[in-house]
Amino acid sequence: MANSKTLWFLIATLLLLQLHFSPTKAAIKGGYWYSDSGLAVADINATLFTHLFCAFADLDNTTYKVTISSSNAAKFSTFTQTVQAKNPSVKTLLSIGGGGGPTLAARFSKMASQAATRKAFIDSSVQLARANNLLGLDLDWEYPSSDADKSNFVALLKEWKAAITQDSTSSGKPRLLLSAAVAGSDQISPLQYYSGPDMANYLDFINLMTYDLFTSDGYPTSTQPPAPLYNPRGMFSVDQGVLTWNRTLGVPLGKLALGLPFYGYKWRLANSNSNGLFSAATAGLGAVGYSQIKAVGATAVYNSTFVTNYCSRGTDWYGYDDVQTVTAKVAYAKRQGLFGYFAWQLGTDNNWALSLAASQAWGA
Ligand SMILES: *[C@@H]1O[C@H](CO)[C@@H](O)[C@H](O)[C@H]1NC(C)=O
Ligand SMILES: *[C@@H]1O[C@H](CO)[C@@H](O)[C@H](O)[C@H]1NC(C)=O
Ligand SMILES: *[C@@H]1O[C@H](CO)[C@@H](O)[C@H](O)[C@H]1NC(C)=O
Ligand SMILES: *[C@@H]1O[C@H](CO)[C@@H](O)[C@H](O)[C@H]1NC(C)=O
Repeated sequence: MANSKTLWFLIATLLLLQLHFSPTKAAIKGGYWYSDSGLAVADINATLFTHLFCAFADLDNTTYKVTISSSNAAKFSTFTQTVQAKNPSVKTLLSIGGGGGPTLAARFSKMASQAATRKAFIDSSVQLARANNLLGLDLDWEYPSSDADKSNFVALLKEWKAAITQDSTSSGKPRLLLSAAVAGSDQISPLQYYSGPDMANYLDFINLMTYDLFTSDGYPTSTQPPAPLYNPRGMFSVDQGVLTWNRTLGVPLGKLALGLPFYGYKWRLANSNSNGLFSAATAGLGAVGYSQIKAVGATAVYNSTFVTNYCSRGTDWYGYDDVQTVTAKVAYAKRQGLFGYFAWQLGTDNNWALSLAASQAWGA
């Protein structure tokens, strides 16, 4: 009797110890630092993140090598050291590309189409990451848009993964991380031009750009939730994008990071008294950073059906993600078993309010 009690006590103690000491499951609380944002690297509150993306490196249009502009060179080369002074375990990745429009998309397409240019791209990226003490590489090709792009994208990732594995063996350093930022919805770019299983195979994680679904440029005649988690009125939403990546493209949810926009869109209302969602508007006035929206000083309204915020002053109307929306989206990411989340971009947060809300909603 006493023996079996002792045995059970031992088993219970061992289970508790294991729970206590088992390493926390890998996850991402990510944020992009954008060099043109005006936010100094030294001012990044790195304790709120597990991964920070240093954006952007460029793609040379004749050599197809990855390059860092001279104006960014000093900031990029000290990025890891600077953010790790506040959070020694934060991982840093060099982001390549960005929203450069059709010219940049065509350059990626051309680079990926030939083995020699892929090699120039890959070798230079690894060299740059190592030379600048960055711990990973992040591909922001916006966007592959043909069947040829789709298969060339896979060839690029396959060769890239082999190169970073080889680099780790020869340098004796931990392997560089490899991620990609991709269209988060068919509303943004056709998802059929991504090969989900190959991406899941070669990438450590995939950043879903689940924003810009309903912009004021695209929908100038009525106010919109720019990045609603749900959309009872139509097809496109953040949730629908996530489910397409999982169910249609075949990527495990645990490979996906949910994109959080730290900005919204501005409209001019037709009538300042008709200022809800889907109210008549006379003009779309473009993207506005979260901190600028907060500076207006208008009362934020939260709509939990769509999971979005909005506010207005006179005929100025803003649709955006405030603290409640960010909290609800991150809770969704956790509940669905995603790898985590990332924010575009840190320079438009307002005293770290959204970064903090996201970090707290995910938990330890
Ligand atoms: C950074 O975030 C921590 C919470 O993790 C907070 O205590 C601290 O005040 C923040 N620092 C700044 C400068 O916002
Ligand atoms: C490369 O970019 C430069 C500067 O934008 C431009 O002048 C040049 O024509 C481009 N070359 C090619 C081959 O696209
Ligand atoms: C969707 O994600 C789940 C959880 O990661 C995974 O088990 C499942 O295989 C994924 N679906 C497809 C079609 O790949
Ligand atoms: C959100 O907005 C829609 C459209 O105006 C409305 O039908 C719905 O009732 C709102 N949800 C909440 C919780 O207020």
